[in-house]
Amino acid sequence: MHESQTFSQHATMKYCLPDGMQTCYRLPMIITIANSKGGVGKSTLAVHLAAWLHEQGCKVTLADCDTQQSSSEWIREAVPEVKAVRLDNPDVILNDLPTLNQDADFVVADGPGSQTETSRALLLRADLAIVPCKASMLEIRALAKATEVLRQAQDIRKGIPHAVIVLSMVGMTYRLTQDMKDAAAALSLPLASKAMILRQIYADAPGQGAVVWQMGFRARDAAQEVDELFREILPDVAIKRVAHPRRVASK
Ligand SMILES: Nc1ncnc2c1ncn2[C@@H]1O[C@H](COP(=O)(O)OP(=O)(O)O)[C@@H](O)[C@H]1O
Ligand SMILES: [Mg+2]
Repeated sequence: MHESQTFSQHATMKYCLPDGMQTCYRLPMIITIANSKGGVGKSTLAVHLAAWLHEQGCKVTLADCDTQQSSSEWIREAVPEVKAVRLDNPDVILNDLPTLNQDADFVVADGPGSQTETSRALLLRADLAIVPCKASMLEIRALAKATEVLRQAQDIRKGIPHAVIVLSMVGMTYRLTQDMKDAAAALSLPLASKAMILRQIYADAPGQGAVVWQMGFRARDAAQEVDELFREILPDVAIKRVAHPRRVASK
């Protein structure tokens, strides 16, 4: 892509899921962070993804669809250039998400912990669902229930939104066991090979109104890990980064 092109002009992009499946998308793209369980890292992932996409030079809107509205406050402090909107009503989500899409390359929607109708509305509009999940067999098994609405949407929309599981809050020495791979495969959901490790820095980030790559040396491993994760999921966006090197600033 030529440097002077905007991301929107680069009309199609690939994202590469871990099993090698490649799909072409047209931008703008709606990405929802979906898991009907609370406390699995959805808001942390949503804010970091929105901020990361902004750093790659993309125009990003964060749609905060959780009644707690923590991610919209967090992104406003961390990256005020990212537009943040609050949408916690299923009808408003169904009606307004496509409109938001018109002036952004990406809409990142932070999903709620439990309201099924809000999740359903998001999944009926999303192109891609990223499903954070804690890395234990119990949590992976609970995913069948937690992703029921996702499968309904995929059934209605003939496989859309594509979805990928991202393991979150994993121990430093975690290994992706065959059990976990099998459990994810049984749900026909690919697992990203990169995970988000359980690190105090992620828990500190919202209180500091920052994302991890703004938090200096202590956060460097976390910054590298989220960068690798997002490059795995959205490689075409990361390719653009070569033309627009990211600033790694400390706040
Ligand atoms: N990788 C991580 N390491 C440590 N703490 C984390 C990590 N991801 C999230 N947290 C913390 O866990 C809690 C739940 O995360 P959050 O992103 O709010 O989940 P959700 O949006 O699914 O409810 C928050 O206190 C958050 O700061
Ligand atoms: Mg949340």
